[in-house]
Amino acid sequence: MKTKNLLHAITFALSIAATAVAAEPVEVRLTVSRESAGPRIEPEVYGHFAEHLGTGIYGGLWVGPESTIPNTRGWRNDVVGALRRLQVPVVRWPGGCFADDYDWRDGIGAPAKRPARLNKIWGNVIEPNRVGTHEFMDLVDQLGAEAYLAGNMGSLPPRSMSQWLEYMTSGSQSSLAQERRRNGRDKPWKVKYFGVGNESWGCGGNMRPEYQADLHNQFATFLHAPVVRVASGDGQGNDHLVDVLMEHSGQHMDALTLHYYTIPGDWSKKGSATGFNAQEWAKTLKSAIGIEPRIETVSRLMDKHDPKKRIALYVDEWGTWYDAEPGTHPGFLQQQNSLRDALVAALSFNAFHRHTDRVKMANIAQMVNVLQALALTDGPRMVLTPTYHAFDLYQPFRGATPLKAELQAPRWHEGDVELPAVDASVARAADGSMVLALVNLDPQRPARVQTNLAGAARGRVLTAAAMDAHNTFAQPSALVPAPYRAGANGAPLALDLPPKSVVVVSVTQ
Ligand code: AHR
Repeated sequence: MKTKNLLHAITFALSIAATAVAAEPVEVRLTVSRESAGPRIEPEVYGHFAEHLGTGIYGGLWVGPESTIPNTRGWRNDVVGALRRLQVPVVRWPGGCFADDYDWRDGIGAPAKRPARLNKIWGNVIEPNRVGTHEFMDLVDQLGAEAYLAGNMGSLPPRSMSQWLEYMTSGSQSSLAQERRRNGRDKPWKVKYFGVGNESWGCGGNMRPEYQADLHNQFATFLHAPVVRVASGDGQGNDHLVDVLMEHSGQHMDALTLHYYTIPGDWSKKGSATGFNAQEWAKTLKSAIGIEPRIETVSRLMDKHDPKKRIALYVDEWGTWYDAEPGTHPGFLQQQNSLRDALVAALSFNAFHRHTDRVKMANIAQMVNVLQALALTDGPRMVLTPTYHAFDLYQPFRGATPLKAELQAPRWHEGDVELPAVDASVARAADGSMVLALVNLDPQRPARVQTNLAGAARGRVLTAAAMDAHNTFAQPSALVPAPYRAGANGAPLALDLPPKSVVVVSVTQ
């Protein structure tokens, strides 16, 4: 074992010992069946979203080829290297709200000649258009990810969207394809996913559902390349919107989106990313698990019009949204990321795993420096967040088949908030092994999970003494996963979970 791992193992053992003295573990029972609980977990549910917002692109991912910060054709080597280790499956770009105010023509051609626009959506700062289509497609190439372009339905005509797609994907001798070649890209790109607008009920045009449905059909008609046509769906708990879009636009879409943000307070006072109390911890997790009933409601509405489930549900924006870090630009949506965010991520992944019949993609908002980011940067420095580590822990679930499992867990209270003590997800991985994810939501009490499984469990745990434990540039490894082992003593497998922890293990039987 490397020294770093050994130190983590010792710290972890000490923290378990300390909590064992402090509180009796709650008893949880997990009964796993061999039967599958649904189709496989698409790797795309571990997808990402990167918007022209704050330092999400400029500074966070892109520093430009002339920068002294090590980069490959402008993209930061440290950030891209860390994201490559997560095998990023898909990146959605350039927005968000930004997408419906973006003209793709601004971002092609000689960089020095590209126009400077105002980013009116996010802080009224200058958008230099230094990152455009060619640069973004280079990023997804470097990551080995699929491209998910979000088109502008809010402020440009369908012809513009149609021409963007032709520019990117045509192998013909058309003027648009030739223009792409002159701009340095000979071969057409593969664009797998194409979004028709974003939040059309709000920043994407404040449309009525009926109007949006007509407009979607019109725009989608002119997407002549074979892309997955993604319709912009709900983000406000609006069932009527889902119903109308499914009824009137179902045949012109292959996927419908859902946006779901976890907010401890309300939009006027969302709450702080760190320095919160147990009540805010509980409220955040309560808000996070609310994603599941929303997925269920939207799926039911979709079933009504699409009982064969041809149309997928893409949760293409999800994550925590707190008050901006003091001293930062409020329009940049910059926030710290703590152990609490790792639990939000784990609970969200578990919810996606339970709904693989519809949920075929999910994109965390957002990749770097914005909202629930996986990495934070400051000039040349980069730090990986607890959310990054949650994505890393869950890698064995990509492509795995969820298994039926019954969880009997007591509930706990914090003030008027009631939550289950433990949440779990079990799946059969592509290599035949069994993967188990367990989340202990209780910040005070450990849990003992008794299973019906034989064998040994090996994996990693993410936990800390403080609810808001996080990594900083000064202490980038304050919160990293530690090795975890249980079982192999002949008895049915039991797993001890420290309070406020995420454990992901492979079980060998
Ligand atoms: O992720 C930040 C913003 O949240 C997106 O631009 C928008 O789609 C949503 O409201």
